[in-house]
Amino acid sequence: MAILAGFGLLTGCGSPHMSALDPKGPVGETQLDLINLSTGIMTLVVIVVAAIYIYVVIKYRERPGDDKDEIPEQVAGSKKLEILWTTVPIILLIILAVPTISTTFRGTDREPEPGTLRINATGYQYWFGFEYPDYQVSTANEVHIPTGRKVEFLLAAHDVVHSFWVPSLGGKQDMNPGRTERLILQADEPGLYEGECAELCGASHATMRFRVIAHPPAEFEKWIASRKQPKSKPKTEQQKQGHKLIAQNCIGCHAIQGAGYDILGRTGPELTGFSHRTRVAGALDNNRENLKKWLVNPQKIKPGNRMPGFDHLDDKQLDAMVEYLQTLK
Ligand code: CUA
Repeated sequence: MAILAGFGLLTGCGSPHMSALDPKGPVGETQLDLINLSTGIMTLVVIVVAAIYIYVVIKYRERPGDDKDEIPEQVAGSKKLEILWTTVPIILLIILAVPTISTTFRGTDREPEPGTLRINATGYQYWFGFEYPDYQVSTANEVHIPTGRKVEFLLAAHDVVHSFWVPSLGGKQDMNPGRTERLILQADEPGLYEGECAELCGASHATMRFRVIAHPPAEFEKWIASRKQPKSKPKTEQQKQGHKLIAQNCIGCHAIQGAGYDILGRTGPELTGFSHRTRVAGALDNNRENLKKWLVNPQKIKPGNRMPGFDHLDDKQLDAMVEYLQTLK
């Protein structure tokens, strides 16, 4: 109950963070510093060039009484000027390149410090799978992390190239099939941070979103504990019917721990603890109505995704599936 209330607090209030200009962690802050540095250099160049331009236009304008045939002194090929406008841009590029490259490598290539939380994140068309190898827990589309602790995301892709981006925490980093990339992020404050796929990956790229939910460390441990002991057993007749229908229709692709069919289905998002998710399919608010919409016609919501629709089931059967899924804790 406390966890549920916590989720309510985290997800119900305030607008979710989704701006690289409003960083909520050290990586995001460093990246904003780089944005400011390059914007600063560009602004300086614009000001200097504009000032020289205005000065020259005013100083060398045609005045009344000027000899119309007189040609001003020609400076094309001036060694001094050529050297000047070759070296200045090179110096500016070096000032830009050194911190950019070193920051990029710091966030991706370095071995993580002890105490770093490891999470495997995999991109699928069109959803994100998350595994916590140290805890033997997995989830989908919503990744929970502790605040104030470095989190090492090991990024991979299942089908095509995706990209992992949480604007207010940091990124982007490509997720490539067949290789693993590393991205280390950290959230300083508890909250909900929007993430999205930043690489065009197919028809539903635009709705391939995920959420990072950051908890104070103690609450994060509670979340892990609740995931290790999921409540997935159906109780009412309706839930039992839903449980049976899910077993018949969904378990080839999805997994629900503690429901009697734990090890099945790895090609679709894991559904354990589904009622705690803030969204259906990472795209719609999680409520009964939206879940039913999704079950009936997932292609309408995320065109090109791999889930077939269940329009062959009647209303009562769909309601039973929704009822069961909404009791998974
Ligand atoms: Cu995955 Cu765009």
